[in-house]
Amino acid sequence: MTLQIERVSKSFDGTSAVLEDTSLTVRDGEFLALLGPSGSGKTTLLNVVSGLTRPESGRLVLDGEDITDLSAGRRRFGMVFQSYALFRHMNVADNIAFGLRVMDRSERPSKAERRERVEELLAMIDMVGFGERYPAQLSGGQRQRVAMARALAIRPRLLLLDEPFSALDAKVRRELRDSVRDLQQRVGVTTILVTHDQAEAFGIADRVAIMREGSIEQIGTPDELRAHPASPFVESFLNAA
Ligand SMILES: Nc1ncnc2c1ncn2[C@@H]1O[C@H](COP(=O)(O)OP(=O)(O)OP(=O)(O)O)[C@@H](O)[C@H]1O
Ligand SMILES: [Mg+2]
Repeated sequence: MTLQIERVSKSFDGTSAVLEDTSLTVRDGEFLALLGPSGSGKTTLLNVVSGLTRPESGRLVLDGEDITDLSAGRRRFGMVFQSYALFRHMNVADNIAFGLRVMDRSERPSKAERRERVEELLAMIDMVGFGERYPAQLSGGQRQRVAMARALAIRPRLLLLDEPFSALDAKVRRELRDSVRDLQQRVGVTTILVTHDQAEAFGIADRVAIMREGSIEQIGTPDELRAHPASPFVESFLNAA
């Protein structure tokens, strides 16, 4: 899926614009990182893409379809957030199957199909045999892997990740980063990762978009950005990390 974000603007009541005519194209199958300082509008832009936040103007086009007015639920996007807790009263298998169970009757897979899909996903995240466990019985890294499986269960048209590793310690973070990249490539889903961690963005993404005060300052592969920073801001931002 190709996502075109076209001249999106958003301000929160009375405040100056957080996003102003922001445009960005995410290519089919690409892993794109949105990188920028705190408050630059990364989460706001991701929330506009997910449908949780309505922009005042601008368009979102997914593979030629205008999805600007489509509700979040109908977009069929997978999402993982830093604090997107699993359902505590549901075991791992039920957490993963959640998005499938709440699908419209016409699309909802049968119980047997759902069970099969859960097993497939448990294998993908390397957690076969964990289906009966509850979130409280898992490590932080395992919980985020389950959150990833839950997001992928619905075969999302886009995968949206907002600082999904930031609550974890450095070693787990690295391992999870690699396994998320691996999962994404196997599934082939177009993915946007929000992070303020340069090493993370450069280590995982095909291209990195540098955000500054609500605009995309530069977009390119990690090598391009390192070799040719387009502005003093990008240069000092990359050097500071
Ligand atoms: N619901 C809201 N109401 C008012 N202002 C908001 C709201 N959400 C975000 N903002 C403001 O919009 C700006 C951008 O916020 P945003 O969360 O998009 O930044 P970010 O780049 O994700 O930062 P961080 O790296 O700290 O997560 C900030 O100045 C923030 O205070
Ligand atoms: Mg944020």
